[in-house]
Amino acid sequence: MSIIIRIAVTTDVAGLRHLEEEVFVESDGLLTRGAFYYHVRSKNLLLVAENDTSEENRCVGYILVLFRRSKARIYSLAVVNEFRGRGIAKELLTRVINIVSSMGCAKISLEVRETNQKAILLYSKYGFSKEKRLPGYYGPGSNGLRMCMKFMDGAAESSSCIGNMY
Ligand SMILES: CC(C)(COP(=O)(O)OP(=O)(O)OC[C@H]1O[C@@H](n2cnc3c(N)ncnc32)[C@H](O)[C@@H]1OP(=O)(O)O)[C@@H](O)C(=O)NCCC(=O)NCCS
Repeated sequence: MSIIIRIAVTTDVAGLRHLEEEVFVESDGLLTRGAFYYHVRSKNLLLVAENDTSEENRCVGYILVLFRRSKARIYSLAVVNEFRGRGIAKELLTRVINIVSSMGCAKISLEVRETNQKAILLYSKYGFSKEKRLPGYYGPGSNGLRMCMKFMDGAAESSSCIGNMY
């Protein structure tokens, strides 16, 4: 397997939308083709993981980070089922944390379903702390969790982010 991680370009949009439909369901609020085009062209950070051993250079994962003032927010992270458990999400997160901290961002945050233990464990390993519980964030009875990491002079400082969670 040879996976390349790079900034997304407009020719990735069809593959990204395909991936989105494979990983998420309509009620998750799928990113449309238009939304992917917008993010590729915007100042947001959209990284793709591409399997360059496949004939069509298939897009097998992505991470989307939005920026607002000095804060960054991981809007979405996904890896297709057959490529999971091979460290692709970890690599995408590593790249994002390096880029965001080197940009001088003060904080990076994200929201995740409270039941998504796999993702919560992944983010925790990278130093994200649970900041706030978000009741009903994903719809009635479906709670979210806000996790974040603060940066001090470009270095991650996760412990300063622990808030009153419950
Ligand atoms: C969450 C997701 C992005 C992980 O992608 P991945 O490429 O399989 O993850 P990695 O192989 O890099 O593993 C990263 C960590 O995730 C956790 N993890 C991965 N697979 C796991 C499993 N089957 N069970 C429990 N934890 C698991 C582990 O902590 C793992 O670290 P480790 O290898 O040191 O044990 C992927 O499962 C996915 O796309 N899920 C659906 C969409 C989603 O939930 N996105 C996050 C929304 S906030």
